[in-house]
Amino acid sequence: MQRVCDLNRNSPKLRVKMCPEVNRHAPPSSDTVQTKPFPIRGERANYVNIPHVIAMVGLPARGKTYISKKLSRYLNWIGITTRVFNLGEYRRHATSAYKSHEFFRPDNEEAMAIRIQCAFEALNDVCTWLENSSGEVAVFDATNSTTDRREMIKNIVVDKMGFKLFFVESVCDDPNIIEQNIMEVKVSGPDYNNMNKEEALEDFLLRIKHYQEQYEPLDEFRERNLSFMKIYNTGEKVLVHKHEGHIQSRIVYYLMNIHITPRTIYLTRHGESIMNLKGRIGGDPELSLRGLQFAKSLANYITSQNIPSLRVWTSWLKRTIQTVTDIPAPQERWKALNEIDAGICEEMTYEEISERFPDDFKARDEAKFTYRYPRGESYEDLVARLEPVIMELERQENVLVVSHQAVLRCLLAYFLDKTADQLPYLEVPLHTLIKLTPVAYGCKMELIRFPIDAVDTHRPQPKVNFL
Ligand code: SIN
Repeated sequence: MQRVCDLNRNSPKLRVKMCPEVNRHAPPSSDTVQTKPFPIRGERANYVNIPHVIAMVGLPARGKTYISKKLSRYLNWIGITTRVFNLGEYRRHATSAYKSHEFFRPDNEEAMAIRIQCAFEALNDVCTWLENSSGEVAVFDATNSTTDRREMIKNIVVDKMGFKLFFVESVCDDPNIIEQNIMEVKVSGPDYNNMNKEEALEDFLLRIKHYQEQYEPLDEFRERNLSFMKIYNTGEKVLVHKHEGHIQSRIVYYLMNIHITPRTIYLTRHGESIMNLKGRIGGDPELSLRGLQFAKSLANYITSQNIPSLRVWTSWLKRTIQTVTDIPAPQERWKALNEIDAGICEEMTYEEISERFPDDFKARDEAKFTYRYPRGESYEDLVARLEPVIMELERQENVLVVSHQAVLRCLLAYFLDKTADQLPYLEVPLHTLIKLTPVAYGCKMELIRFPIDAVDTHRPQPKVNFL
């Protein structure tokens, strides 16, 4: 039987289940263990055997929501089910329209009671989600700016629930970054619908002041038992304290690589190839005449844009290298950007595959993300192969990536936060340049279509009858 703990003794409705006495992830027995052939490339290994709570720390307008959403997008993309719980949303839900910074004064007792109640409710939802659904990582996006608040979180998350807890503090004392953040996301946010931008800025700065009165940054001596990382001025310096295990290492590594410098990422497939004309997949063909025309037009377009410090990345395959021949920018070849390996189906048409391997063809339609071509790869494998590319893309500024349909679907899914089900059906037409620009908490996508005909290689999601 599971015990129930009361997170908030004053509020009987806030009850979450406590960690059962037996290990919630008992080792597999001979009855439960499933053997699989080894090695399994790209298998979505369950990296997080114990659910994790990532609790943000920091004054308002320090990029906590940006980090939370970006981290969640990354973790979901690598196959770790992650969700953000934003405390501001709980507060807005619990109160009528936002009036002013007065709500955040530390001596406003009535408001403080509401804020504490909201924190309990959010944590209750975090724990319930991790305990009862497939959730693996919950990101608690809140200021969590006092040692007392962090102690309370530890008490619930670690001591009562038995989950892992990792704090991520964003410390920023650069007034330009803070003001830019306020102007970009806060003054047009839901609290300030009824105020003009100047009033909103003034109010938000006062709100920050109220938090500053009580702010206690994470301290490696006073809070020596906690696991945490501190990011100073958007990555200028990083401090990591007592991080534990694989998932936290991955989070640290990822957050060390991201930056907020404005830049653009361009993605495009190679020009149309000889094999595209024949409807055949894979191989290492040359460009068709129209493909060569696209290569010329692309070079003209990119040159005309005068993109500062542009880098060009291609796969190792001829069709991408031919596509960038005339582009005057430093170029790098990545094997990881090669097209999905279709194994025994390489160089076949879809019709040939459906005739010769009908079971495989059907299996792919039923689960395209996880289906692996015999002696080849799945989309899931591809995501694993592309992780270093994403990490390097995060570190770079302006980059043009010239690659292939399946590969670009994976990269787009990362930038546009698409699910594993949507990913294999994203449309990436030939002779089209995709321009991705970071905005607020996401990415803006523009399509630049070149007026050069090409075959359509997109196969829409078929209606699958599972009966
Ligand atoms: C908010 O109410 O907007 C944020 C609450 C907090 O994290 O302190």
